[in-house]
Amino acid sequence: MKLLILNGPNLNLLGTREPEIYGGVTFLDYFEELKQKFSNVELFYKQSNYEGDLVTEIQKSQNEYDGIVLNAAAYTHTSVAIGDAIKAVTTPVVEVHISNTFAREAFRHNSYISPNAKGVILGFGLKSYELAIQSFL
Ligand code: DQA
Repeated sequence: MKLLILNGPNLNLLGTREPEIYGGVTFLDYFEELKQKFSNVELFYKQSNYEGDLVTEIQKSQNEYDGIVLNAAAYTHTSVAIGDAIKAVTTPVVEVHISNTFAREAFRHNSYISPNAKGVILGFGLKSYELAIQSFL
């Protein structure tokens, strides 16, 4: 099982970014924990602040990964292009969010990812990623 964790804009700042919402752990530290927890899974991690990079990664995932754990961050709420990219490939995508976006501002309640995702996991902090990986097993 080969899974790609794909993170969108500002998630490279986890650990220092709004820690009251996103916690105090960097994603790279958490990724090390994930690799230990899921030693039976080939885990890959990519992050980009650019919408087009995320579209390209989703396109390239076909025949490369068994699934994508996607936190498109703010692009979740704006990106028709990322939603279309998910529709264009057969790779299953599980949408994750660290925070409970429905308990936050109204503009975070819409997702262009959800209608095209296999499932959605949100609001469990970094544990959301773990739950998303488990959903593939
Ligand atoms: C987020 C929620 C988004 O609304 C926000 O723009 C993010 C992170 C989350 O993981 O909780 O950057 O995707």
